Order: sequence, then C-alpha cells, then structure tokens
Amino acid sequence: MTTVLVLNGPNLGRLGSREPDVYGSGTLDDLRLQLEASGDLAIDLRQTNDEAELISWLYEAVDTGSPVILNPAAFTHYSYALRDAAALVTKAGLLLVEVHISNPHAREEFRHTSVISAVATGVIAGFGFDSYWLALELVKRRLG
Ligand code: DQA
Repeated sequence: MTTVLVLNGPNLGRLGSREPDVYGSGTLDDLRLQLEASGDLAIDLRQTNDEAELISWLYEAVDTGSPVILNPAAFTHYSYALRDAAALVTKAGLLLVEVHISNPHAREEFRHTSVISAVATGVIAGFGFDSYWLALELVKRRLG
C-alpha cells in the first residue's frame, strides 16, 4: 500500500493553540485522525521545526517513491534548501502538493512569495485542514 508523507514545518506542532483565529482550533493529532479516516491510503504525518530534518524526509520520499503533501510553514517564504529538496521529489516523478491552512496571499506581504510553489506539482491554500484533505483526494486520483 502506498504511504503518503504529510510533512509539516516549523510551529505547526502548536496548532490548536497557535493563532486559532488564523489556523483554527484543531491540533496536528486531529488532522492526523481526519486524514486517516478518509481511508485507502496510509498516512505518515510528521512535523519538525528543523529545516535539515524536513529536507531529509524529502530525500526519504524520493528513496521510497512516496507522494508528499508538504506544508513548509514559514520555510515556504525563504528556504532555497527546502526548495531544492522539493525539486528532487517532483523531478523523480513523484507528486508533491504544497498546502497551507491559511491563504498566504491574503496575509502579510512576505507571505505572498513561495519559493516552493515553482517546484511543487501544485498548491492548495486557504481551506483550513481541508487543504490537506483536498491534497489527499488529489493524490488518490492521480495514483488511480
Ligand atoms: C502556513 C502559512 C505560512 O505563512 C506560515 O508561516 C505558517 C503556516 C499555513 O499553513 O497557512 O506557519 O504555511
């Protein structure tokens, strides 16, 4: 069975208490349960504040042939190292869906730039936890 890596960057471990007006009141564990409940595919949901660890998980996706749903969080806006690692995933022919809980384009100007989007397969943003659910539906459709 295919395992989808659902990778989350810095500060997303604080979901539930972090700016609930922006990110909602659900925790990462709530998100994991919601995604697992949507069936079919195995979900491996992880979170780190460490850029190097996030990059190593993208290498793992390449090595295991796993599709990726990635919320790079603040790394979205400036991490060229993460971008280069994300490019390895899509260049390997694997899906990488960039997701955001909020709509960064409706927020501060520094959030309007994503250095990841150009190397992602596509981007889903602004739908709360449903951004991940939509990404998962897309992965299911694409995997046939
Ligand atoms: C975020 C948006 C980013 O701008 C922010 O730094 C985050 C979360 C989102 O999911 O809406 O940490 O990626």
